[in-house]
Amino acid sequence: MIDLSTDNRVAIEARCRTLGWLGTNETIKALAPAGEGNMNRTLRVTTDQRTLVLKQSVPFVAKYPQIAAPADRIVVENRFYDAVKNDGPLSMRMPARIGFDADNRLLALEHVGSAGDFLHLYDGGFSDVQGRGYFTGLVYWLWRLHAHQGVDVAAFENREMRALNHQHIFVIPLMPANGAAIAPGLEEAAARFAADEALSNIAAQLGDIYLGKASHKSRACLLHGDYYPGSWLHHDRLGVMVIDPEFAFFGPAEFDVGVMLAHLTFSGFSQQDLMGTLRSYVTPPGFDYNLAIRFAAIEIIRRLLGIAQLPLKANAEQRITWLNTARMMIG
Ligand SMILES: Nc1ncnc2c1ncn2[C@@H]1O[C@H](COP(=O)(O)OP(=O)(O)OP(=O)(O)O)[C@@H](O)[C@H]1O
Ligand SMILES: [Mg+2]
Repeated sequence: MIDLSTDNRVAIEARCRTLGWLGTNETIKALAPAGEGNMNRTLRVTTDQRTLVLKQSVPFVAKYPQIAAPADRIVVENRFYDAVKNDGPLSMRMPARIGFDADNRLLALEHVGSAGDFLHLYDGGFSDVQGRGYFTGLVYWLWRLHAHQGVDVAAFENREMRALNHQHIFVIPLMPANGAAIAPGLEEAAARFAADEALSNIAAQLGDIYLGKASHKSRACLLHGDYYPGSWLHHDRLGVMVIDPEFAFFGPAEFDVGVMLAHLTFSGFSQQDLMGTLRSYVTPPGFDYNLAIRFAAIEIIRRLLGIAQLPLKANAEQRITWLNTARMMIG
């Protein structure tokens, strides 16, 4: 398998040319990290004619090679691009796909935007009018996805990625002394949550729904699976684009909605803002608001007490307020 690293330009250029991803006279001028990702290898490739992104999955977490990870996650990501390619409103808000090289687990995408992702939301939120426009686009994209028909369900089992995420969302955050680098001042709250049996029981039920072991009332649909500001990119013309569907699966829409709501909470949205947001989301049949709120709550908890921490600016007091609110949301 080709090594997707900045010092392997000659081999990468040769492979891209063989695959028809580069024109005969097109040459690579520079290779650089595409962004701040953890899971995969991602490179920004500047040629003498344009810029593209190469993304490769390896059988471990690219940033932490000692941690194993499902090797075929890029295959699922590629399938997602396939599944939405004929749906204009969905595909127009994702980078154009240049190609997929199954042998090298390599996906080539158009490079979009120049201003990076939306993780800055945690440091100010959608405060300006333009920001609200971005947000409408994101909610519209999500309901279009959840309404998307004709999906090959078996192609989106994504078992191994779901098993990995299940541990990180529903199990590890509520384990005592779980080794997570939680913010100083949250120790007491972490211990209190770990000792809360009712909470653990509900987390286990939600985890079963996530894994498809327990049913949900809503019509199952294709989910993005990781719908948070790290998967949203600024785009000069469209405002916002969506990337990184490697956790996609066929399941409850409430999961994507809940995750989004959790991250809008971290971005400073008030309860009223959140309700306003949901008004522009057209729910799939049987959509259960309580389930979405519970998924939102567990996402809040796991981002504060689990391994996958966020670049939040909030102090301990604010974090404890969020945790207590999440506990109330769980019911
Ligand atoms: N098509 C693209 N255009 C521009 N930048 C991109 C594109 N795809 C990825 N990037 C940049 O590379 C970063 C990592 O990409 P991506 O999120 O797909 O990788 P990942 O390894 O799955 O990351 P994570 O570990 O956060 O899930 C993005 O945050 C973004 O900054
Ligand atoms: Mg990812």
